[in-house]
Amino acid sequence: MAGNQQPEVNIGLVGHVDHGKTTLVQALSGSWTDQHSEEMKRGISIRLGYADATFRHCEGLDEPECYTIAEKCPDGSESEPLRTVSFVDAPGHETLMATMLSGASLMDGAVLVISANEPVPQPQTEEHLMALDIIGIDNIVIAQNKVDLVSGDQARQNYEEIQEFVEGTVAEDAPVVPVSAGQEVNLDLLMQAIEEEIPTPERDPDTDPRMHVARSFDINKPGTTADDLAGGVLGGSLVQGELEVGDEIEIRPGREVERGGQTEYVPIETTIRSLQAGGEDVDAATPGGLLGVGTGLDPSLTKGDALAGRLAGPAGSLPPTWDSFTMDVDLLDRVVGTDGGEVEEISTGEPLMMTVGTATTVGAVTSAREGECEVNLKRPVAAEPGAKIAINRRIGARWRLIGLGTLKE
Ligand code: GTP
Repeated sequence: MAGNQQPEVNIGLVGHVDHGKTTLVQALSGSWTDQHSEEMKRGISIRLGYADATFRHCEGLDEPECYTIAEKCPDGSESEPLRTVSFVDAPGHETLMATMLSGASLMDGAVLVISANEPVPQPQTEEHLMALDIIGIDNIVIAQNKVDLVSGDQARQNYEEIQEFVEGTVAEDAPVVPVSAGQEVNLDLLMQAIEEEIPTPERDPDTDPRMHVARSFDINKPGTTADDLAGGVLGGSLVQGELEVGDEIEIRPGREVERGGQTEYVPIETTIRSLQAGGEDVDAATPGGLLGVGTGLDPSLTKGDALAGRLAGPAGSLPPTWDSFTMDVDLLDRVVGTDGGEVEEISTGEPLMMTVGTATTVGAVTSAREGECEVNLKRPVAAEPGAKIAINRRIGARWRLIGLGTLKE
C-alpha cells in the first residue's frame, strides 16, 4: 500500500511539555508515539519516539485544502501520496535535554509546537529553540497549538509574542501556523508549510551507509528455545547510504568486555538478517525514519538498549573509536533554561556530559584552552572528525547545555 512507503525525511517535534507534540503527531499519523509503558505512567516521552505520516494530495482542490492524510478525497476519488515523513517526538521534560539533542542530530527539520494559551516562551520552548539554533537546524515550522482554547484576540497576542521570541534566532523566518491538534483544525495548512519549509535532503546512495543506533532489543519472549531465538535487533536512523539484507556490518565501539580489571570495547561484526522501515519488512533501506535491523547477534548483546549510542556500517568503513578527544568549543552566552546565568569558561578537571550522534558520555577535562578542550571519556564513542557535540555542564542537580563542540582530527 502506498501509505506504507519508506519515510524520506525526519522531522523533530519539539516544544514545551504538554504543548501537544504527541497529540499533533497522532493527528497527522494516526499513531501514538508514547508506546512505552513507563512513558504512559510518567506521561512524558522519555525515549525518542518515531511515527510516520504520509502526506497526500487531492487533485483539483486549492491550497491548503488539497493536503490531506486521508486516502479518499472529499469527492470520493483516491488521494495521491506526496511523501512519507517521520516525526521524531523529542521529549519535553527538562532533564531530558540530552535525548532531545541526540535526536536533533538526526533531524532534517523541526516543528516547534507552542501552546496558544500560555505566555511565550515556556522554559523548554526556549531550550529547544536554542538547541535547534546551535545544531543549525533551520528548516522550521512553528505550530501555534490549542487555538481552540483561546479567543481571536488572545491568539493574535500570542502570535505577537511568538514573533518577538524567535527574532534573531534560526526560527526568525519560520511560518507560524495556528492549529488545534486536539480538534484537528488547520492540519492541511500545517502540512503545506511542512512541504514548503522542510524539503527532503539530497542523499547520495553511493556513500558508505552509517546508522546511528538509538535503541537495541531482545525481541524474544521469555522461555523461547535456543532453536527459535531471533537474533538481536537494532533500532535507529540511517543517515547516509543504503543497507540491504545480507550486508555484513560492524558496530562500534561495540561491546563492553572486562579484561584484567579493565573495561574494553570490542567492535562487533554481524550480518543483516532483516530490515524494517516504515513498519514494513524491506530488502533495502535508505535514510529517513526509524529503521529496525534484525541481526545474527546473540540477543543478550542487544537486550535493554545495550548497544544504544553505537555506530553501524560496513566493516572497515567506520570512523575511529575515541577514548579521549580534542574538540573546538563554542560556548553559549547564557546557560540554557529559565534561571540560567552566564556560561563560564570550561576548566581543567571538570566533568562534562557530551552527546555525539545518539551516544551520550561523560568525560573529565584534561586540558582546557580558550575555544578548545581535551576530554577523557568514561565510555568511548565512535564518531567522524568534524562531528557535532552537545556539551553539558552539571549545574545544581542537573546537566545543562552550555555549548557546542566540534570533534578535531
Ligand atoms: P510531553 O510528551 O509530555 O512533552 O507532552 P506533549 O507536548 O506531547 O503534549 P500532549 O500531546 O501529551 O498534550 C498535552 C495535553 O494537551 C493533553 O491533555 C492533550 O489532550 C491536550 N491537547 C493537545 N493538543 C490540544 C489542542 O489542540 N487543543 C486542546 N484543547 N487540547 C490539546
